[in-house]
Amino acid sequence: MNETNSKTIAILGGTGKEGKGLAYRWAKAGHKVLIGSRTPPKALNAAAELSQMLDSTSRIEGLDNPTAAMQADIVVLTVPYAAHRATLESLKDSLQGKLLIDVTVPLVPPKVRKVQMPPAGSATQEAREILGEGVEICAAFQNISHEHLLQDATVTCDVLVSGTSPEARAETIILVEAAGLTGWDAGPIENSVVIEGLTSVLIGINKKYGSTHAGIKITGVKKQSTV
Ligand SMILES: NC(=O)c1ccc[n+]([C@@H]2O[C@H](COP(=O)([O-])OP(=O)(O)OC[C@H]3O[C@@H](n4cnc5c(N)ncnc54)[C@H](OP(=O)(O)O)[C@@H]3O)[C@@H](O)[C@H]2O)c1
Repeated sequence: MNETNSKTIAILGGTGKEGKGLAYRWAKAGHKVLIGSRTPPKALNAAAELSQMLDSTSRIEGLDNPTAAMQADIVVLTVPYAAHRATLESLKDSLQGKLLIDVTVPLVPPKVRKVQMPPAGSATQEAREILGEGVEICAAFQNISHEHLLQDATVTCDVLVSGTSPEARAETIILVEAAGLTGWDAGPIENSVVIEGLTSVLIGINKKYGSTHAGIKITGVKKQSTV
């Protein structure tokens, strides 16, 4: 990857299961990854753990969430829904002018197999309400189990991307492809209700059919990679 294509990506809550998997795949693709955490030593440990799995040219650092958000071109949010609002409110200023990729699923334990969307429509729309129009926001990766990410096997599940503009969706799809997955432009931010809601359906399918990583695949369309 050349300097022009390489991005600095902050993953807030990147010490967790989904965030670490995405960090691994983007660092491997040549992007600079900043793992964000509420606790810097935890972020440093996660960065060190991932660095050991990657070659010496990979760039991966651990920071507190606000510093990671400030230093990044693109910010990815991978925290439990219960922490979604507070995390975004505390980082509102540093996110202005950036692209936020929101991976959060608004699950309401214990009934995580039932779709229970927030009053804004979806977590991604809630992020829009909190952050305002100065931040481009996309929903993506909600339907990809972390089990697929922290390893090198080909992932056959697809990623639906909805968001505030075609440009933001295109930029997000480039990162989906950098992570080794196929991304689809799934339309405006209002459509994130379907993407986020689908996760409860997949959790239910996992439970009923004895899996841990059900996913979705778009069929009937030929798609060229954009990277
Ligand atoms: N796991 C999956 O397979 C998967 C798949 C698709 C989507 N998602 C969605 O992605 C998000 C993250 O999932 P995950 O499984 O990675 O979650 P997780 O491992 O439980 O948590 C991720 C990180 O969030 C931070 N966090 C936890 N509680 C917090 C709080 N009260 N305030 C601020 N930060 C907090 C923690 O980081 P620090 O302690 O370092 O701050 C934690 O390491 C969720 O919304 C989930 O629904 C997950």
